[in-house]
Amino acid sequence: MGIEFFTRLPLHGETEYLPGDPRNRGDWTNNENIENTGAVSNYEVGDDFTYIDYLSQVARAAEINGFAGALMVNAPTGEEPWTVCSLLARETKKLNFVTAFQAYHFSPYNAVQTAATYQRATGNRLVWNIINGGSEVIQRQVGDDLPHDERYARATEFLDVVKGYWNNPSFHYKGKYYSAEGGGLKYPLNKASLPIICTAGSSEAAREFGAKHADYYLMRAEKPQEIASLIADVRLRAKKYGRENIKFGLSIDTIARRTEQEALAEAQRFLDEAAEKQRLHAAAAHAGLRSARVLSFEKEYAEKDGSKNVSDFFIHPNVWSGFGYIGVPPGVALVGSYQQIIERIQEYNSIGIELFFLAGYPHLEESYRLGEHVLPHFKKQRQALQRIPEESKYRIA
Ligand SMILES: Cc1cc2nc3c(=O)[nH]c(=O)nc-3n(C[C@H](O)[C@H](O)[C@H](O)COP(=O)(O)O)c2cc1C
Repeated sequence: MGIEFFTRLPLHGETEYLPGDPRNRGDWTNNENIENTGAVSNYEVGDDFTYIDYLSQVARAAEINGFAGALMVNAPTGEEPWTVCSLLARETKKLNFVTAFQAYHFSPYNAVQTAATYQRATGNRLVWNIINGGSEVIQRQVGDDLPHDERYARATEFLDVVKGYWNNPSFHYKGKYYSAEGGGLKYPLNKASLPIICTAGSSEAAREFGAKHADYYLMRAEKPQEIASLIADVRLRAKKYGRENIKFGLSIDTIARRTEQEALAEAQRFLDEAAEKQRLHAAAAHAGLRSARVLSFEKEYAEKDGSKNVSDFFIHPNVWSGFGYIGVPPGVALVGSYQQIIERIQEYNSIGIELFFLAGYPHLEESYRLGEHVLPHFKKQRQALQRIPEESKYRIA
């Protein structure tokens, strides 16, 4: 089975210490009256260096170290990912950028035109991660009043229209949420490729949406058997649409070190900091990115009873849920020696994960650790991202 590696850029702050700690690079302290000590720049608007310069370093490190792309999460409190993609595209040579956005934030034509311009400028380096909001509270904050399942219905139409516009110079459509009367990509914009499409979300509505439209269905890490059953379910749903070759991606952090002891010590350092700051069992993972489905390791937090013992959080060998327990998304990390991390990646790959989003803290340093000690092992197996060919379905004769 093929395998590909992307990393994740820290669009809402570096996390060498817990989120909000002023020692972290960037200016995401919890309190604006506390001065950042982790920042070389003051990150004031108008300074010579901004947080984007740091993100640019991480992106360059990622491609120098052999990552094929970078995931950029869209949280309302973080930097806006599509803008960051555009800023970083010209500072990198080959890196693909996965931008997350909600159908709600764009009109289909606006998304098509923006992506086509980006693709032409960058050699088709844009990947879309279509998100639909896990938190009702955050959706209302940003002005979207559709309920959860209906957001997926809207996104399904959104992508029908996007694919129609992309493949036709004069596309007509009348749906519940969108309509089109003869618009569509024309030469030369239509020389660009439609971005490869990813999505995530484990609710029924999200799985159905992914089955119909995604080239890659993304998941947060769970126990391998749980991932395997989610894969089987989504693949079965995709079959209905003639898309059983849909592929699967996994987002998982890493604490990869020379020895297991070194990795465990680093994981313990995070737990100790959380205990000191009374943030054990913090709002698990990232509130805005939460799924309607509570994952099994999240349910198990209730039994941990304030534990700060690193070994209490292994849900599978080297698969550590301690980050979710202290409020660091996505919540689960591979913790171990370089060799152990390679073995766990092989295990998830063998059950159907072909795209890995790996990141650790600080992102810059972990990128080198992974690039030097883990990625080379998979050199022969690497396979660039692939789209499910279905253009003709969206072409009007
Ligand atoms: C790899 C990955 C990346 C994600 N990125 C984002 C993101 O950038 N912004 C966001 O709001 N949600 C993000 N999510 C969350 C999902 O898109 C989805 O909103 C969440 O899982 C809730 O979906 P559900 O309630 O339908 O299960 C991500 C999830 C995964 C697995």
